[in-house]
Order: sequence, then C-alpha cells, then structure tokens
Amino acid sequence: MNYGLQARATTLGSQQDKNFVVTGPDDEIVGVLKIANPAFNAAEIEAQDLAAVRIAETEPSLRVAVPLPNRSGEKCTAISGLVDGTAYVRLLRYLPGGTLLDSGYLAPTAVAGLGEVAGRVSRALEGFSHPGLDRILQWDLRYGADVVAELIPHVADPAQRARIEAATRDAWTRIAPRADDLPRQAVHLDLTDANVVVSRSAGASPHPDGVIDFGDLSDSWAVSELAITVSSVLGHPGTEPTSILPAVRAFHAVRPLTAVEVEALWPLLVLRTAVLLVSGAQQAVLDPDNPYITEQSDGEWRMFEQATSVPIDVMTEVIRTDLGLAAGPGPVEVTVPLVDVDPGSVVTLDLATTSDVYDFAFSDDGSLKPGVEDELARAAVQNGARLVATQYGQARLSRTCKLSKESPDVVATGISLWPASSTPMVAPWDGEVIADDVVTLRGSDYELTLTGAHAVASGSVSAGQPLADAPAGQWVEVGVRPVGAPAAPLFTRFEMAPGWLALTRDPRPLFGLPAVEVQKTGDLLSRRDASFAPVQEFYYRKPPQIERGRRHFLMSTAGRTYLDMVNNVTVLGHAHPRIADTAARQLRKLNTNSRFNYELVVEFSERLAATLPDSLDTVFLVNSGSEASDLAIRLATAATGRRDVVAVREAYHGWTYGTDAVSTSTADNPNALATRPDWVHAVESPNSFRGKYRGADAAKYAGEAVQQIEQLVADGRPPAAFICESVYGNAGGMALPDGYLQQMYAAVRAAGGLAISDEVQVGYGRLGEWFWGFMQQDAVPDIVSIAKSTGNGYPLGAVITSRAVADGFRSQGYFFSSTGGSPLSCAIGMTVLDVLHDEGLQENALRVGAHLKARLQALQDKHPIIGTVHGIGLYLGVEMVRDLQTLEPAVEETSAICDRMLELGVIIQPTGDHMNILKTKPPLCIDIEAADFYVDALDRVLTEGW
Ligand SMILES: Cc1ncc(COP(=O)(O)O)c(C=O)c1O
Repeated sequence: MNYGLQARATTLGSQQDKNFVVTGPDDEIVGVLKIANPAFNAAEIEAQDLAAVRIAETEPSLRVAVPLPNRSGEKCTAISGLVDGTAYVRLLRYLPGGTLLDSGYLAPTAVAGLGEVAGRVSRALEGFSHPGLDRILQWDLRYGADVVAELIPHVADPAQRARIEAATRDAWTRIAPRADDLPRQAVHLDLTDANVVVSRSAGASPHPDGVIDFGDLSDSWAVSELAITVSSVLGHPGTEPTSILPAVRAFHAVRPLTAVEVEALWPLLVLRTAVLLVSGAQQAVLDPDNPYITEQSDGEWRMFEQATSVPIDVMTEVIRTDLGLAAGPGPVEVTVPLVDVDPGSVVTLDLATTSDVYDFAFSDDGSLKPGVEDELARAAVQNGARLVATQYGQARLSRTCKLSKESPDVVATGISLWPASSTPMVAPWDGEVIADDVVTLRGSDYELTLTGAHAVASGSVSAGQPLADAPAGQWVEVGVRPVGAPAAPLFTRFEMAPGWLALTRDPRPLFGLPAVEVQKTGDLLSRRDASFAPVQEFYYRKPPQIERGRRHFLMSTAGRTYLDMVNNVTVLGHAHPRIADTAARQLRKLNTNSRFNYELVVEFSERLAATLPDSLDTVFLVNSGSEASDLAIRLATAATGRRDVVAVREAYHGWTYGTDAVSTSTADNPNALATRPDWVHAVESPNSFRGKYRGADAAKYAGEAVQQIEQLVADGRPPAAFICESVYGNAGGMALPDGYLQQMYAAVRAAGGLAISDEVQVGYGRLGEWFWGFMQQDAVPDIVSIAKSTGNGYPLGAVITSRAVADGFRSQGYFFSSTGGSPLSCAIGMTVLDVLHDEGLQENALRVGAHLKARLQALQDKHPIIGTVHGIGLYLGVEMVRDLQTLEPAVEETSAICDRMLELGVIIQPTGDHMNILKTKPPLCIDIEAADFYVDALDRVLTEGW
C-alpha cells in the first residue's frame, strides 16, 4: 500500500527482524520487506539507511541493500498505533546471487573478495556519524569480554566453559591495553559470509560484491569489521588460520591497518568466536528444540577451534609478516658461550630441499629413510667435526612426509646440536634454571631451552656456571626466545613459520657462530619473468618452488612433498638412481656426436627397433618430441615427393614450424584452426565423448575422414601423410574409435601416402596392456615418433620407420643432429628400457591404472561434475562437465579444482581443447596407496568445494 505495489510477500526468516521477499505480479523480485524489530528506535533505523546509501554512493561497484522510497519518498515507513508500538517498515533493494554461507570450502579469491568488501565498507563509513550509532550491542567487541562473562553459564560442559573463558582472557589481555589507541568509526559489524552477497558467473568462484543487513551498525573499533569478516572464513571446511590472510591483505590494500590494529586483529577474532559460542549457547537454552541452532553451533565451534589452534602472538606475527610490516629481530647477545668450542670444528648441515645431502637418502618407496639426520651427523663427526649443528629457520626436507594432506612440521624454530663427545654446557647469561624434560634458563631478556641435555644446575645461576651436559652422539635441541614469548614447538609448518620465527631467535650466536640468514622465498617468479620469456608459462598462479623429486613425488623448498599425477615424461619416476648413475658414468667416458663410430648408438637403435613390428627397423635419434614428429613429416614428404598432410583436430604435435602446422588444438593456440597453412588438412576430432559423433556413432569419424582423403586425391593433392596420436592424449587420453587407425592408415596408403603415429605421450608401456598406442588399434604405422619417456626427462627423441622410407630422405641431403644419438642419450635411453623391464613398470601401469580408473569411475556416481573417465592404463583423463546432458565443459571449475588439489598435496593439471580434463598420467612407478590418495583428495575437493 505504502509502496504502491501489487505484490506477494514470502517470509525469509531472520534473527531479529521480520523479512519478506516481495515479488511482483510476474514473479519478479521487487525487494525485501523488512519490519524492524521493535527494539530498534527510529534514530537507529535512520542511521542504518543513511549508512547503506552512503556506501552505495561512495563505492559504486558494491551492491548495497539500500532502502527504496515509499510513495511519499521516505526510506522508512512508520506504522504507528500497533499493540507493541510503532513498526518501522522498509523495502530494501534485493541483491541476487546469494551469500557464501553454504559454500563449503572458500577459495583464496573468495576470501580476498570478502576482505575487500569489508575494506570498502570501512572506507565508506569512515567519518560517518549519527546519533543512531550510539548503542550497546552484544556483537560490539568492545563489550566482548563482558558478554562472555555474562553468558558463559549457558555453556553446559565445564571443559568447554573453561576453554572459552581461557581464550577470552588471552584475547582480552592483548586488546585492553590497546583499546584507547584503536581507531573508532561507524562499522557494519556483521559483514560475515551470511551478509556479503556474491555475483556468480558460470563455474567461476563466487565474487563477493554486495552488502546486506545493517542491523548491527554501531560506532566501534574500525578493525572489528575485519575481525568479524575473517572469523566467518574459519567456519568453512578446509580452512585454517592462515586461510584468512588473503582477506586481510585485501582489506589492508583498501583501508590500511594501523600497527595497533594489526596487533588487535587476531585477539578480536578469537573474542568474536567466543562471543558467538556463548550467544549460541544462550539461544539453545531459550529455544532448545531448534535444530538450526545446533547446526550453526558446529560451524561456530569450528571457528573457535581454528582461532585457538595457534597462539595469538604467533598468528599476529604471521599477519604482520604477510602484510610486510614485520621488522626482523636483532641477534641474541651472549655473555659467555654456551659451549666452549672452536667455531672451525663446528659443521653446519644444510638440510634444505636443495641440499645435496639427500642424494642417497631415499627408500625404495620414495620416502626419506628414517634417521637421515643422525647418519649425516655421524659422518660429519667421522670427518673430524666436534660439533654438528643444523640451521635455524630452515625448512628441513628430512622432516617431510609423503602423501600429506597438509604441509608438515618442517621448519626448525631452533637448532639441533650433535656433539662428538659428551659436552658441558654453561649458562650464557645470568638466570633461573627450571629443569624437567627440558632444561630452561630464564634470563632477563631471553629464555634458553635445551631438549635432550641433562641438567647439572637448578635455581639461580650466573653466566659461565655449569648448566647441562650434552651427551655424545645424540641430538640436543636448542631454542631461544624472548622472555614472555610462547613456548615454540621444535618444528612448525611452513605457513606458520613467520610467526614462530618472529618469536624465537637463532641460537647460533650462543656458540660464537654468526646467525644464518633465514631463506627468503617469493622473488623467484619475478626473476623468472625478467629473464625467461613469460610466454613459457608456469603451472599455478602461486606455484610451490619444486627443487627435488623422487619416484612419483615432488618436493618443494617449503619441505612439502607432493604427489605428481601429471609427469608422463619421467616414466620411471623422478631422480631414478640408475639413470643418474648411467649419466654420471657416461659423462666421465665420452659424449660426442653420431658421426663418430661408437657402439651405444647401434645398440640403442637395435633395442628400439626390437620393441616395434618388423617393418619398423630403421632409427633416427633426435632430442625432443617436436623434432621427432617434425622429422616424421619431413620423412613422409621426402619419401612421397608430396607436401600435403592430414591431421586431426584437437591435436598437439610440437612447436617446430612443421609440427606447429599440424597442431590444431585450440587450447595450445586459440588461433590454431584459422591459421593452418594450406598443406595441412584437418579432419574432425575423433572425440567419442563430446565430438560430432558420440558413443556408437563415433564409428562414423573414420568414414568421413577417409572421404576427405579421397577428395584430396580427387583434387590432385594426394597427401604425403596422415599424422595422429594413437591414443588421443591431447584430448585427455581418450581411445580412438574402434578401427579408426586401420581405416585411416588404409586410406592414406591407398592414396600413396604414409601413416605417422605420434607416440610421444602415450607410448612406452604407459597403456599397460600395450607398449605402443597403435597396438591398441591393431594397426601398424609407417613412421613412429617418440620422445618424453624415451629419456625419462633427459632430452631424447626418436623416429623409427622402414628402411625404404628412411632412404627416401637421401633426396634432402643427409641427416645429422649434434646431440641426437650422442653416447650419453643412448646410454640413458637404454637404461630407461632396462628399468622399465626390471621394475615391471608396464605391468604396474596395467594394475595400478585399472585400480585408479575403477576408483575414478566410482566417483562419477557421487559427483555429477565428472562427465566421464577416459583412458587406459596410466593415461587417464577425468572430464569435468557442468551438465551431463549438454556436456558443457566445466572449465573454471577444473582450474579451481587443480588449485585446491595442490593445497591437498596433489599436482594435477587440466588438458583438452576446453581445459576441462584432469590429465592423469603419473610416473609409471606409482603405487596403489598413491593412486588412492589422489582419488580421495579429488573426492574431498568435489565434496567440500573448490
Ligand atoms: C603428442 C605430442 N607430440 C609431440 C610433442 C612435442 O614434444 P616435445 O615437447 O618433447 O617437443 C608433445 C608434447 O607435449 C606431444 O604431447
């Protein structure tokens, strides 16, 4: 009536107000009708309306639930004379898109979006004043400690009560001294995942850009806005304390935080989670049968658990470092050295991922042997060291673990000492000794902790007096921290390391040794961009720095071990010791070119030819797949005297002039189809899943393509060759339709041309049942190009053909490649063949591949985003679709899923023309345990979100 609308109102349910969605005659949403809780007075409501309008005006890219005017042009309609007084009614702008409340896992981009919205709201409300802001609310964190004290009796469980009280005390002791220095202003005070509205574009992670519900608007500490926003992030599955950092960074970029605000942020977050718990407990008492409250309380407990899972001061330092505001602490001052040792007789171990010490430290399953550190220390002692020390702040690969869903505790917060003989330790400064499992010396500035040493003193000691004995041939862990800092774990996760390292000190000055600078990461990508052509893109937006590999594992400088599901090149696994030995031995003997007469090139050629049908008996050796496929095309054109080549769509064959010409994949080159030279004739992609012909109809592809070849002949342009991957690797490992190669090879031969099989990706035993892909089609090509697996990552490619075709190249002069066929590459190539055989890797591909495919197919029933699972053996492709009927490719989803898989310790990447297929092609040594880890991680991501 007041708005002149013919409309229907449907209740939305709300905690404090009565909200209705108002729809017009055509079911279009007109707005949200809000009848304010009678507890709100007119001034408060006016303040909320003005704040909403102010934000909408100053931050035009934000969508804001502003009040729409009634027929008299007023934002608020007062309806007086009701039983319980005056009701204030507003019609608010409806913001479509929903919130993040039910979003499961929140991707870092969504978290950053929340922080940015909070920052913009904060910036817009700065300087806004109104009498309606002057209110006392239970959500205002200025009263947080009082709210907890008052409502805590509602928490029934005494243990829970004690935890909430302790956390509140802990937080409040940090907030109270800063209270007067915290800037105040108007704050929305409830900008959580429930009140920030998102825009959604198909497949992309939701983009927070709207603000609703100004009911808690108050004048309070400005930083509360951010604390409340980020606390809600912690309620989502898969998040941890450091998950809030993108939001804090985004907020800080819009509305810079002061130093005091940075110090108050995490304590306020902890307090917020405590307030939520006690308020929820009160609600549960008032409304015991409401299941919604219990459900909500699970999320709130998760927030609290996460908020209190790390000491406040540590998290504050993590935030400070992340914002670039941390000042590095100075070195510890020592009166008397802890150990009387000649610094020249101390050996410092480098245990970083990049260190050479690990070369022989791996077990057969790819994990590091236990006791690596002990072995290294013993060896150093045998070589004359009196004391062996490790490095402070170093991420030690020796502490990593394989197949871990989260980063392990690898960063040392102190140093480990291994004395050659029993060594007395003296107090480096005056202090008080506390001796239990750990010997602690508390001085006026620092606390020293010795774990693994035997105390020889108690009570007060002066600098230089005996303190403890370090036993011979055992580790003593030495930690130093400023007095009052929390006790540090000996090792922490890489993400938390900035926090713990700000609250500990390098103990090396205690031995008269200079402090070791903690390794800095992060500038490698900018250096890469500056020197290495950026068009050579890298995986992931924020890639880990991978500096080591073993079997199907890759290890980062953060000491994390990832499962490598993408490297088909290293067919035997990473850093195979037999390949390394072969290379080292051969490099010491000879490496030259194949115009010299040596046996290796003969032996390797014989062995390669022996893996192929008899007709393929003559070998060319080159350095890469591009060169191999390029040479294959040149051989065909030379042998036939023709220039036209038939290729399939959605294919990639390499980067050379010739192979690029026959590469039709739009994922590799978006202009591929429009820019093919006139000698390339692309036939339909024989994609039986989403192509022109699907399922049983896929048999038609060959017929059509054969007609195209016949047409070329009729047009006087008979082809020199037909080139195709024998299993459609670039389309996700899809098998070609039955009989496809037989028909195509017959047609091209009938036209006087040659059949080229590009086996660069799919050959070499990966398919399990067959060593070569063309065997799966029961067809034999005239020319085979190979690479990748051929050298297990060492640059080595080959073309194998018949003697007649090879001789045809005489018309081009002679063939020579400086390093193709070098003794080194031949030696490596043969060791690859030996290891494939000795370790039964083709059989492993069959066994593990079958298990992996069956498990992935089982996931398909649970997660409709999985359209199908392509592939054979250990060349699989998990194709992601938005709709099982339309098969719309889930492009953005696949990319986001890969990012989330990385967080869970799995390296996997998209492929296919739409980049919507998880290319699942790990080293062939992968075992069932690792295959299960991959599938379990994928299941988790598809369940929790990405
Ligand atoms: C099927 C196929 N052929 C050829 C190549 C080119 O190989 P390379 O990168 O060794 O030059 C690739 C590379 O991805 C490929 O997938």
